[in-house]
Amino acid sequence: MRIHSLVSIEQCGSDDIVRILNKAKTFEENPNRRVLEGCIAATLFFEPSTRTRLSFETAFNRLGGKIVGFSDAATSSSSKGESLKDTILIVSNYADLIIMRHYLEGAARYASEVTAIPVINAGDGANQHPSQTLLDIYTILQTQGRLDGLTITIVGDLKYGRAVHSLIAGLSHFKPSFHFIAPDELRLPDEQKHYCDFHHIPYCEHSVFTEEIINQTDILYMTRVQRERFTDMEEYERVKNVYILRNEMLSGSRDNLRILHPLPRVNEIAYDVDSNPKAYYIPQARNGLFVRQAIICEVLNL
Ligand code: CP
Repeated sequence: MRIHSLVSIEQCGSDDIVRILNKAKTFEENPNRRVLEGCIAATLFFEPSTRTRLSFETAFNRLGGKIVGFSDAATSSSSKGESLKDTILIVSNYADLIIMRHYLEGAARYASEVTAIPVINAGDGANQHPSQTLLDIYTILQTQGRLDGLTITIVGDLKYGRAVHSLIAGLSHFKPSFHFIAPDELRLPDEQKHYCDFHHIPYCEHSVFTEEIINQTDILYMTRVQRERFTDMEEYERVKNVYILRNEMLSGSRDNLRILHPLPRVNEIAYDVDSNPKAYYIPQARNGLFVRQAIICEVLNL
């Protein structure tokens, strides 16, 4: 059954994920199809974004639709005190689809419950980023030729990283093994560890980022420390540069290793890694266009 609103990756079974990835492949082959002629999407971004907003908007434009919305909530009437409910109900009068990023966890689910039109969660606080996960899984399949049985090492801010939380759930269908590398302050929350235990997914936690772990890894998923989620800036200063991947650390890595990052990068991947053929974060972001075209078609039943 098709997905009406995409608010959490946990809504997607493996069949849903495979269906969306197969559709994305057809968009990679031909991204310009005018199947959305006459459709309008509203992009409501209450938090900053480069990739997610621009790739969703490009996806919609390349499919022949039109976009309304805001990229800065300060220019919307939410800055005058309008509630999220009222904003969603008003925008639902104008658009066929809402694509929303919000700083509150659960905001996308709430929006999907107050409107009849589809809502796509473009990130809600530290909770979920399901379209990022689908493009991450598309990229993993593209680079590994398979999804099952991979060793995935996730490094950085595992506490606040919504892309991390979604990725663990999205990959749970494909028998992964995880290494989680984080400083004590940014360890993976118990909720995600219980999720792994419940789904019999093996994982090891580490606080030191070593070549020994990199050398056992198929996908190295680097993440940024999420400054905007900290209430204590001294704590942020202590952990912000805790792990930096440098090219020399990859010398013993597997041939099939690929380095992914949801981006933006701050300091956690040195620029000398960019020229290593195992660096794949720029093509990963490009895949966001095709996967988001597929997600849009999924929720609009096209
Ligand atoms: N990966 C990601 O969500 O990037 P943006 O914040 O630029 O959208």
